[in-house]
Amino acid sequence: MKIAPSLLSADFSRISDEIAMLERAGADYMHLDIMDGRYVPNLTWGPKIVGDIRKCTKKVFDAHLMIVEPEKYVDDFRKAGADIITFHLEATVHAQRLLSHIRSIGARAGISLNPSTPVALLEDVIEDCDLILIMSVNPGFGGQKYIPNALKKVRQTRALIDAHNPACELEIDGGIGRANIAEVCAAGADVVVMGSAIFSAADPVAELQALRALVETQPVGARA
Ligand code: DX5
Ligand code: ZN
Repeated sequence: MKIAPSLLSADFSRISDEIAMLERAGADYMHLDIMDGRYVPNLTWGPKIVGDIRKCTKKVFDAHLMIVEPEKYVDDFRKAGADIITFHLEATVHAQRLLSHIRSIGARAGISLNPSTPVALLEDVIEDCDLILIMSVNPGFGGQKYIPNALKKVRQTRALIDAHNPACELEIDGGIGRANIAEVCAAGADVVVMGSAIFSAADPVAELQALRALVETQPVGARA
C-alpha cells in the first residue's frame, strides 16, 4: 500500500516544512490537487507552484488535475515536475489521446472517475492507464464525507485491472481515514490519498504511521 498525502490540507506558508514532515512520516507520493474553479468549485495552484515545491523533495509528484480541457495544461505540469498526471474522464473529449500523450512526455498517465461515473467507461482505455483514481467524494474540497458506494467501484476497478493491466495502480481519494482505510485496501486500492486525516491530527507523523499500520500490520499470532 502506498500513502499519498494531499497537500491541499497543508499550510502553504510553511510548505517546505510540511513536505519534510511527510517525508519523515514515510509518505510514498505527494498528491497535488489542481483545481481551476470551473471543473470544481474551488481554486488551488498552477504549474509555477508545482515547479517551486519540486525543489523541496524527490518524492513522486502525483498531480490530480480537476480542470476542464486538461489537454491544454499537461505539458506545463510535466515540465514543472509532475511524475503522474491524472485527469478526469468527464473533463476531456478524447481521453485515449490524452493518456497516450501523457505517456509520450515521460509521465505516468492516470484517469479519475467521479462518484457518479461508472467504472464500465474504463473498459476500452484500461491498457492505456498507469493509474486509476476512484473519487470517494465529489471533487473540490478536502474534509468531505466518504461516499460508501466507492467500495463497490474499487472492487470493480480491481477486477478490470487484474484482468487487463495488472501493473496499473488503483488509487482512492476523499474522506479516507482510520474508519475506512482497511476496507478500501481490502477491496483492492493500492494507493490511498489522505488530506484532513493526516493534517488535522495532533501529530501528523504518528497519524500517517498509524494509518499505514491499520493496513499493513497483522496481529503477531497471524504472522507466518
Ligand atoms: C478532493 C481532493 C482530495 C482531497 C482529499 O477534491 O481530490 O485529494 O484533498 O482530502 P480528504 O482526505 O480530506 O478528503
Ligand atoms: Zn485529489
